[in-house]
Amino acid sequence: QHPTSQMEENSGLTRANCRAKGGSPGFKVAILGAAGGIGQPLAMLMKMNPLVSVLHLYDVVNTPGVTADISHMDTGAVVRGFLGPQQLEAALTGMDLVIIPAGVPRKPGMTRDDLFNINAGIVKTLCEGIAKCCPQAIVNLISNPVNSTVPIAAEVFKKAGTFDPKRLLGVTMLDVVRANTFVAEVLGLDPREVDVPVVGGHAGVTILPLLSQVKPPCSFTQKEIDYLTDRIQNGGTEVVEAKAGAGSATLSMAYAAVKFADACLRGLRGDAGIVECAFVASHVTELPFFASKVQLGRSGVEEVYPLGPLNEYERVGLEKAKKELAASIEKGFSFIRK
Ligand code: NAI
Repeated sequence: QHPTSQMEENSGLTRANCRAKGGSPGFKVAILGAAGGIGQPLAMLMKMNPLVSVLHLYDVVNTPGVTADISHMDTGAVVRGFLGPQQLEAALTGMDLVIIPAGVPRKPGMTRDDLFNINAGIVKTLCEGIAKCCPQAIVNLISNPVNSTVPIAAEVFKKAGTFDPKRLLGVTMLDVVRANTFVAEVLGLDPREVDVPVVGGHAGVTILPLLSQVKPPCSFTQKEIDYLTDRIQNGGTEVVEAKAGAGSATLSMAYAAVKFADACLRGLRGDAGIVECAFVASHVTELPFFASKVQLGRSGVEEVYPLGPLNEYERVGLEKAKKELAASIEKGFSFIRK
């Protein structure tokens, strides 16, 4: 079975307790792709999250090692590892939240769309497992291209009869995290004080920072707007190039994924006023999916907020974003249709 429980059983020295059965209060979370560049630090940070009682780590390689390692951390969550497709169902059964960073990352010169052929199939298979084993779970989808993998996941769930738009969220938090950091640098502020809404999608021009809505209220020169917009849209490529073939953002992504997952869990717990940006089923534009601020609650996405007032620069950006997004969404849909 899974490494942690096996070790406990084999030693014969584990006293009966509710923890080993995952009985402590908190949520059950699975990470699919847990042995990867994002998966490992994400698993570590989720093990540190007090809202998590059970943490399932699934991958097609290396989960026994990652699980053994992380299970030694003296935090509350019980960690279990699952290896390969035969253990996918066991990994998913009973989960409240499933985080998916499975799939290949970019190398220099690649767009996120270049990952489509491999990652589309991975996401499809994993979502079929979710539909079967934990159809009520909240899904945080990280695998790129998010603009297409979220529509793929939605189609898989629709086919299975389990689709609930409130529970499927594409993770665009890293764009917000980057925007907060870069804007804080320009303004000379602590990034923790800065809140930049980033809407649209998660690739190139579809990443649309709304600099006119930055909190605390501030104004930028046109030069600053051009610089910030470009840097936020290409932050991922900045990392891909600096890593020079060794992959894309993993550490900042794991941080962003945990920030987002924690918001989802606090919503599930019933905390009020949890608002984050995410790529979700949406009526904010004419497109079926769009990233904007959403309110998170007991049932997942409880409200999708409109974009608010945009300036002329942002309106032009929005049109560009929608054009590219429409094609990426359609690409996801047609992958399932064919
Ligand atoms: P990685 O290659 O280091 O790790 C991916 C992991 O997925 C590997 O351990 C691999 O064994 C596993 N995997 C492959 N097929 C699988 C399957 N069928 N089931 C379960 N696991 C499987 O890649 P990294 O850097 O962790 O990136 C993962 C994904 O996240 C990529 O698609 C990347 O583009 C995306 N990403 C998304 C971001 C976002 O903001 N949404 C930011 C950065 C990366």
